[in-house]
Amino acid sequence: MFHDIPPKIISRMTYLEELDAQDRRKLTPRLKRLRQIPPESGQFLALTARFAPEGKLIEIGTSAAYSTLWLSLAAKERNQKIITFEILIEKYNLAMETVKVSETQEFIQVNYGNAKELLTSFNDIAFCFLDAEKEDYKEFYQLVIPKMVQGGIFLADNVTSHYKDVKPMLDIALQDPRVDALIVPIGKGILFCRVA
Ligand SMILES: C[S@@+](CC[C@H](N)C(=O)[O-])C[C@H]1O[C@@H](n2cnc3c(N)ncnc32)[C@H](O)[C@@H]1O
Repeated sequence: MFHDIPPKIISRMTYLEELDAQDRRKLTPRLKRLRQIPPESGQFLALTARFAPEGKLIEIGTSAAYSTLWLSLAAKERNQKIITFEILIEKYNLAMETVKVSETQEFIQVNYGNAKELLTSFNDIAFCFLDAEKEDYKEFYQLVIPKMVQGGIFLADNVTSHYKDVKPMLDIALQDPRVDALIVPIGKGILFCRVA
Protein backbone atom coordinates (compact mmCIF):
# COMPACT_ATOMS: atom_id res chain seq x y z
CA MET A 1 0.00 0.00 0.00
CA PHE A 2 2.85 2.42 0.83
CA HIS A 3 5.27 1.28 -1.88
CA ASP A 4 3.21 2.29 -4.88
CA ILE A 5 1.48 5.53 -3.84
CA PRO A 6 0.62 7.39 -7.08
CA PRO A 7 2.91 10.42 -7.68
CA LYS A 8 -0.07 12.82 -7.73
CA ILE A 9 -1.06 11.72 -4.21
CA ILE A 10 2.52 12.02 -2.94
CA SER A 11 2.84 15.45 -4.49
CA ARG A 12 -0.40 16.72 -2.84
CA MET A 13 0.59 15.16 0.52
CA THR A 14 3.96 16.95 0.35
CA TYR A 15 2.28 20.25 -0.54
CA LEU A 16 -0.18 19.94 2.38
CA GLU A 17 2.62 18.96 4.80
CA GLU A 18 4.43 22.17 3.83
CA LEU A 19 1.27 24.30 4.26
CA ASP A 20 0.62 22.74 7.68
CA ALA A 21 4.23 23.36 8.78
CA GLN A 22 3.91 27.01 7.64
CA ASP A 23 0.66 27.35 9.66
CA ARG A 24 2.49 26.18 12.77
CA ARG A 25 5.48 28.50 12.18
CA LYS A 26 3.35 31.57 11.42
CA LEU A 27 0.81 30.91 14.19
CA THR A 28 -2.06 31.11 11.69
CA PRO A 29 -5.43 31.65 13.49
CA ARG A 30 -6.85 28.32 14.69
CA LEU A 31 -9.91 28.15 12.38
CA LYS A 32 -7.71 28.75 9.32
CA ARG A 33 -5.03 26.20 10.25
CA LEU A 34 -5.07 22.79 8.59
CA ARG A 35 -4.27 20.96 11.88
CA GLN A 36 -3.22 17.79 10.07
CA ILE A 37 -2.14 14.48 11.51
CA PRO A 38 1.56 13.56 11.15
CA PRO A 39 2.49 11.07 8.38
CA GLU A 40 3.09 8.17 10.80
CA SER A 41 -0.49 8.54 12.05
CA GLY A 42 -1.64 8.53 8.41
CA GLN A 43 0.12 5.22 7.85
CA PHE A 44 -1.43 3.80 11.00
CA LEU A 45 -4.91 4.89 9.85
CA ALA A 46 -4.42 3.36 6.41
CA LEU A 47 -3.22 0.01 7.76
CA THR A 48 -6.05 -0.12 10.30
CA ALA A 49 -8.75 0.84 7.79
CA ARG A 50 -7.43 -1.72 5.33
CA PHE A 51 -8.19 -4.57 7.73
CA ALA A 52 -11.45 -3.28 9.22
CA PRO A 53 -14.42 -5.60 8.57
CA GLU A 54 -16.85 -5.11 5.70
CA GLY A 55 -18.81 -1.86 5.92
CA LYS A 56 -18.50 1.90 5.47
CA LEU A 57 -15.28 3.82 6.03
CA ILE A 58 -15.84 7.29 7.50
CA GLU A 59 -13.82 10.26 8.71
CA ILE A 60 -15.14 13.13 10.85
CA GLY A 61 -13.07 16.29 10.25
CA THR A 62 -11.57 16.49 6.76
CA SER A 63 -9.74 19.84 6.73
CA ALA A 64 -7.81 19.83 3.40
CA ALA A 65 -8.12 16.00 3.15
CA TYR A 66 -4.53 15.14 4.10
CA SER A 67 -5.58 12.29 6.42
CA THR A 68 -8.22 11.38 3.83
CA LEU A 69 -5.48 10.81 1.24
CA TRP A 70 -3.86 8.25 3.57
CA LEU A 71 -7.24 6.60 4.10
CA SER A 72 -7.87 6.56 0.36
CA LEU A 73 -4.97 4.08 0.02
CA ALA A 74 -6.95 1.60 2.14
CA ALA A 75 -10.21 2.48 0.38
CA LYS A 76 -8.60 1.74 -2.99
CA GLU A 77 -7.43 -1.71 -1.86
CA ARG A 78 -10.90 -2.40 -0.46
CA ASN A 79 -12.51 -1.14 -3.67
CA GLN A 80 -14.73 1.42 -1.91
CA LYS A 81 -14.72 5.10 -0.84
CA ILE A 82 -13.65 6.84 2.34
CA ILE A 83 -16.58 9.10 3.22
CA THR A 84 -15.42 12.26 5.01
CA PHE A 85 -17.25 15.20 6.63
CA GLU A 86 -16.22 18.87 6.82
CA ILE A 87 -18.22 21.71 8.35
CA LEU A 88 -16.26 24.74 7.05
CA ILE A 89 -16.76 25.77 3.41
CA GLU A 90 -13.16 27.00 3.01
CA LYS A 91 -11.81 23.64 4.18
CA TYR A 92 -14.37 21.73 2.11
CA ASN A 93 -13.20 23.63 -0.99
CA LEU A 94 -9.57 22.82 -0.20
CA ALA A 95 -10.52 19.15 0.27
CA MET A 96 -12.28 19.13 -3.11
CA GLU A 97 -9.15 20.62 -4.67
CA THR A 98 -7.11 17.85 -3.04
CA VAL A 99 -9.39 15.19 -4.51
CA LYS A 100 -9.18 16.82 -7.94
CA VAL A 101 -5.42 17.27 -8.17
CA SER A 102 -4.65 13.88 -6.62
CA GLU A 103 -7.21 12.20 -8.91
CA THR A 104 -8.79 10.28 -6.04
CA GLN A 105 -12.47 10.85 -6.99
CA GLU A 106 -12.98 7.09 -7.21
CA PHE A 107 -11.93 6.55 -3.58
CA ILE A 108 -12.90 9.73 -1.68
CA GLN A 109 -16.33 11.30 -1.08
CA VAL A 110 -16.23 14.66 0.70
CA ASN A 111 -19.47 15.75 2.40
CA TYR A 112 -20.02 19.40 3.38
CA GLY A 113 -21.90 20.04 6.63
CA ASN A 114 -22.12 19.20 10.30
CA ALA A 115 -21.26 15.53 10.77
CA LYS A 116 -23.52 15.44 13.85
CA GLU A 117 -26.49 15.91 11.53
CA LEU A 118 -25.19 14.12 8.42
CA LEU A 119 -24.35 10.96 10.36
CA THR A 120 -27.82 10.41 11.77
CA SER A 121 -28.83 8.44 8.66
CA PHE A 122 -25.61 6.34 8.63
CA ASN A 123 -25.28 2.70 9.63
CA ASP A 124 -22.98 -0.27 8.99
CA ILE A 125 -19.83 1.69 9.80
CA ALA A 126 -16.74 -0.54 9.74
CA PHE A 127 -14.15 2.17 10.39
CA CYS A 128 -14.37 5.69 11.81
CA PHE A 129 -11.57 8.22 12.24
CA LEU A 130 -12.61 11.10 14.52
CA ASP A 131 -10.55 14.30 14.20
CA ALA A 132 -12.98 17.22 14.78
CA GLU A 133 -13.31 19.68 17.71
CA LYS A 134 -12.17 17.98 20.89
CA GLU A 135 -15.12 19.17 22.99
CA ASP A 136 -17.41 17.22 20.61
CA TYR A 137 -15.56 13.90 20.95
CA LYS A 138 -17.83 12.43 23.61
CA GLU A 139 -20.94 13.28 21.57
CA PHE A 140 -19.45 11.77 18.40
CA TYR A 141 -18.34 8.64 20.26
CA GLN A 142 -21.88 8.12 21.56
CA LEU A 143 -23.35 8.81 18.12
CA VAL A 144 -21.04 6.53 16.12
CA ILE A 145 -20.41 3.43 18.28
CA PRO A 146 -24.03 2.14 18.04
CA LYS A 147 -23.84 2.54 14.26
CA MET A 148 -20.78 0.31 13.90
CA VAL A 149 -20.63 -3.29 12.73
CA GLN A 150 -19.21 -6.02 14.95
CA GLY A 151 -15.42 -5.87 14.82
CA GLY A 152 -15.57 -2.26 13.58
CA ILE A 153 -12.68 0.05 14.42
CA PHE A 154 -13.16 3.52 15.92
CA LEU A 155 -10.07 5.78 16.11
CA ALA A 156 -9.86 9.26 17.64
CA ASP A 157 -6.83 11.56 17.31
CA ASN A 158 -5.19 13.93 19.83
CA VAL A 159 -5.99 11.90 22.92
CA THR A 160 -2.51 12.56 24.35
CA SER A 161 -1.96 16.11 23.01
CA HIS A 162 -5.46 17.24 24.14
CA TYR A 163 -5.93 14.80 27.00
CA LYS A 164 -7.95 17.17 29.22
CA ASP A 165 -10.31 18.17 26.39
CA VAL A 166 -11.04 14.60 25.33
CA LYS A 167 -11.13 13.08 28.83
CA PRO A 168 -14.98 12.95 28.89
CA MET A 169 -14.83 10.57 25.88
CA LEU A 170 -11.88 8.57 27.24
CA ASP A 171 -13.64 8.07 30.59
CA ILE A 172 -16.49 6.38 28.73
CA ALA A 173 -14.53 4.53 26.02
CA LEU A 174 -11.90 2.95 28.27
CA GLN A 175 -14.67 1.44 30.49
CA ASP A 176 -17.21 0.73 27.75
CA PRO A 177 -18.17 -2.98 27.63
CA ARG A 178 -19.23 -2.59 23.97
CA VAL A 179 -15.60 -2.07 22.89
CA ASP A 180 -12.03 -3.18 23.57
CA ALA A 181 -10.03 0.04 23.81
CA LEU A 182 -6.52 1.35 24.34
CA ILE A 183 -4.47 4.47 23.65
CA VAL A 184 -1.81 4.05 20.96
CA PRO A 185 1.16 6.40 21.53
CA ILE A 186 1.65 7.34 17.90
CA GLY A 187 1.63 10.95 16.66
CA LYS A 188 -0.60 12.96 18.99
CA GLY A 189 -2.03 9.83 20.64
CA ILE A 190 -4.80 7.79 19.04
CA LEU A 191 -7.67 6.12 20.88
CA PHE A 192 -8.19 2.68 19.31
CA CYS A 193 -11.51 0.91 19.93
CA ARG A 194 -12.71 -2.37 18.46
CA VAL A 195 -16.42 -3.03 18.70
CA ALA A 196 -16.88 -6.36 20.45
C1 LIG B 1 -8.06 18.71 13.13
S1 LIG B 1 -8.86 19.22 11.68
C2 LIG B 1 -8.86 17.76 10.69
C3 LIG B 1 -7.52 17.43 10.11
C4 LIG B 1 -7.55 16.28 9.12
N1 LIG B 1 -8.17 15.10 9.68
C5 LIG B 1 -6.15 15.93 8.66
O1 LIG B 1 -5.43 15.30 9.45
O2 LIG B 1 -5.78 16.30 7.53
C6 LIG B 1 -10.53 19.25 12.21
C7 LIG B 1 -11.54 19.59 11.12
O3 LIG B 1 -12.83 19.19 11.58
C8 LIG B 1 -13.78 20.09 11.10
N2 LIG B 1 -14.98 19.96 11.93
C9 LIG B 1 -15.14 20.39 13.21
N3 LIG B 1 -16.36 20.07 13.67
C10 LIG B 1 -17.01 19.43 12.66
C11 LIG B 1 -18.32 18.85 12.52
N4 LIG B 1 -19.19 18.89 13.54
N5 LIG B 1 -18.64 18.27 11.35
C12 LIG B 1 -17.74 18.22 10.32
N6 LIG B 1 -16.49 18.76 10.40
C13 LIG B 1 -16.12 19.35 11.55
C14 LIG B 1 -13.06 21.43 11.24
O4 LIG B 1 -13.64 22.43 10.45
C15 LIG B 1 -11.64 21.07 10.82
O5 LIG B 1 -11.41 21.30 9.44
